[in-house]
Amino acid sequence: MEQPTILVVDDDPDVRETLSDSLEALQYRVLTAESAPAALAVLDRTLPDLVLTDVHMGAMSGVELCARLKTDPRWELIPVVILTGVSDLDARVAGLAAGADDFFGKPVELLELRTRVAALLRVKHLLDQLERAEGVITSLGLTIEARDPYTAGHCERIRKYAVALGHALGVDQPTLRALALAGYLHDLGKISVPDSILLKPGPLTAAERGTIQRHAGAGADLVRGLRTLEEVRPIIRHHHEKIDGTGYPDGLRGEVIPLGARIMAVVDVYDALHTARPYKKALSHAESVAILLRETEAGYWEPRIVTTLVEVLKDLGHDRFP
Ligand SMILES: [Fe+2]
Repeated sequence: MEQPTILVVDDDPDVRETLSDSLEALQYRVLTAESAPAALAVLDRTLPDLVLTDVHMGAMSGVELCARLKTDPRWELIPVVILTGVSDLDARVAGLAAGADDFFGKPVELLELRTRVAALLRVKHLLDQLERAEGVITSLGLTIEARDPYTAGHCERIRKYAVALGHALGVDQPTLRALALAGYLHDLGKISVPDSILLKPGPLTAAERGTIQRHAGAGADLVRGLRTLEEVRPIIRHHHEKIDGTGYPDGLRGEVIPLGARIMAVVDVYDALHTARPYKKALSHAESVAILLRETEAGYWEPRIVTTLVEVLKDLGHDRFP
């Protein structure tokens, strides 16, 4: 582990100095800020491994600072410890609600500081490693896209549409995150499809279609056991299901298909229609939407999801371009 960096936030210069000295003696790199806004300015420039903050510090409290960190994807994984009097129950309850990872009583006891900071930093280190693994997998998704010149930019577009659509449908935060990752990973299983089939310009034989269809299950199998992708896996497996049960790989129907996968399916079909493929030219936005609506009437897609996508694409300006 590199030398971890700890950001100490307190309006009292004596507390800042005592904490800095103690933490530096434990071989940590220490940054300090005298208020929550000053801490946010530091966080804009550098990412500490842990934030130690006082509660009462003028206009913006340590609890509010914690809430800001825990709701921003750049900072949500940084552990936040709130310094509070043992009897300050209100601050503890508010801190918990804001997502604080731990509380230290004031005055800080050195042995306690040492053991608990070390424990939190170990967890942070593991999370960093997981994030790096996630980055590797995302690049893998882009590598697969690069094999097929016709799908250039597909992952990034799918991610953008899926997240905007998820937002508009009011899905929860874990599903939004899963949709963003699934933008890159939904076709991960195409790694097992030979170029001769993936890039074939003419119509596919039944056997070749079967091979392509196996990409959904194969992709889900590849991420099995990766806990950080647990929510993404069902989207990868089921992004070709149709709500009337005629999709693959499991022929699931209606709401049995995970919501993330129902969203991804519609977005994926729109982008496939709207871009050129080895076997077809790109359709216009209006033509693509017309086909999606016809297929919705035929029972393939969930009407609410399709009509919301049409709205979302309008907001993205798609109706103004061919
Ligand atoms: Fe796919």
